[in-house]
Amino acid sequence: MQNRETWGSRAGFILAAVGSAIGLGNIWRFPYMAYENGGGAFLLPYFIAMLAAGIPFMILEFGLGHKFKGSAPKIFSTISSKMEWLGWFQVIVCFIIATYYVAVIGWSMQYFLLSFTQGWGATPSDFFFKDFLGLSSGPMNLGELQMPIFLAVVVAWGVAYFAIFTGIRGGIERLNKIFMPLLFLMVLVFIGFGMTLEGASEGLQWLFKPDFAALAQPKVWTAAAGQIFFSLSIGFAIMLAYSSYLPKDSDISNNATMTVFINCGFSMLAGVMIFSVLGYMAAQKGVPVSEVVSSGVGLAFITLPTAINMMPMPVLFGVLFFLALTIAGLSSMISIVEAIVSAVMDKLNMPRKQASTLICGLGFIISVVYTTGGGLYLLDIVDHFINNYGILVGGLIEICFVAWFCKLDMIQKHINATSEFAVGNLWKLCIMAVAPFGLAVNLVIALYEDLTVHYSGYDFSALLMFGWLMLAAALVLALAMTCKQCAFKECVSANNDFRRK
Ligand code: ALA
Repeated sequence: MQNRETWGSRAGFILAAVGSAIGLGNIWRFPYMAYENGGGAFLLPYFIAMLAAGIPFMILEFGLGHKFKGSAPKIFSTISSKMEWLGWFQVIVCFIIATYYVAVIGWSMQYFLLSFTQGWGATPSDFFFKDFLGLSSGPMNLGELQMPIFLAVVVAWGVAYFAIFTGIRGGIERLNKIFMPLLFLMVLVFIGFGMTLEGASEGLQWLFKPDFAALAQPKVWTAAAGQIFFSLSIGFAIMLAYSSYLPKDSDISNNATMTVFINCGFSMLAGVMIFSVLGYMAAQKGVPVSEVVSSGVGLAFITLPTAINMMPMPVLFGVLFFLALTIAGLSSMISIVEAIVSAVMDKLNMPRKQASTLICGLGFIISVVYTTGGGLYLLDIVDHFINNYGILVGGLIEICFVAWFCKLDMIQKHINATSEFAVGNLWKLCIMAVAPFGLAVNLVIALYEDLTVHYSGYDFSALLMFGWLMLAAALVLALAMTCKQCAFKECVSANNDFRRK
């Protein structure tokens, strides 16, 4: 058994955890979610979800990782040998996310290069769908491989591989110590210039203007809870793995709270960054801000380039925005892949270098599918099902299992033994009731919507294959990984024993 690596410093750990949390989800998803769900009124459910579920769950995951010193499958199997599958389910969810997340990082990298000349041209929408993605007719038609995206994906996997291969201190911690300050600096510089643009304050008013009627709609609350979980990287193996590398006497509750506050603070900054630009664009066109907002990929890769074309310093804004998106994506990508690598190392007793080569190699091969003309459709379907079910189901079972069926008091005692502030009955109430209730309601609403309407109008066959069956396959594979006679495990362990002799 190899000694478990540890973070070099407290700041290094927090920066890595923040690097994981702050990702693509904060920069394009948060501003749009806030806007769509009542503007300033969204902030109320968002902060309630943060306080009642986000912080308690983060403290729990840091506590579990620190106490059991292992990846998700190892932690759950230590608590109960019957629950190892849950850890593998979360790890497989991470693997699926990594394969498409990297494609969006690839797009951001290419757009970073294009921003030096505004290479997306006068009609960014046509450029994005036709020239850049080479969009095919549908998810069942992969079309052609898009070489620029493929090359960028190679680079993104290369960075993740390098960070993970070189280890916790030498790779992941060191890289995040450079990435995170750089990311904050770029976003602050962007905001500094962005706020001087005509119409910027109108953009911010649109974002922060409260619409209290929205609070009566359940979807606003579920959107807030969903955003908190994805954005904080909780419930899908990542924070368990990162906190398993904390040294013995580390603080838990304060580190977790700081990570959540920094992440949510960054989301606010991202909101200000995006909406100052949208306000400017609306002012230039003489239309209301609502007419220039778009969601998901459209916001980052079509609306922003359109706005940048109109701006006084297009190169500065373009470079800052797409470099920030790339860096935020890469630091999250590294944590997603590390959650998988650490699970493979624990299970197969495999050295880090071998495990990272295996996982990055396999992940790269699968992610090639997202660099084809059908990649955007596949990404959209897989992302929808992974976000709505993969993460939520994994998180819900984890929290119910830990809160109700294992000794929560024991974990509470462990957290309080080394933390700067103690958690008490309020924390337990959030873990046992508030967070599971929020997750369960989210799940029921998502399920109801998917069973009544075809997501985004896709054919049922595509949704079945890349959505429901993909989730079923993840579950079957997770169960197979816990099989006692796992031939693969025996084979690799024997190989490792042989190499050591
Ligand atoms: N937490 C990461 C994000 O927001 C996965 O993108």
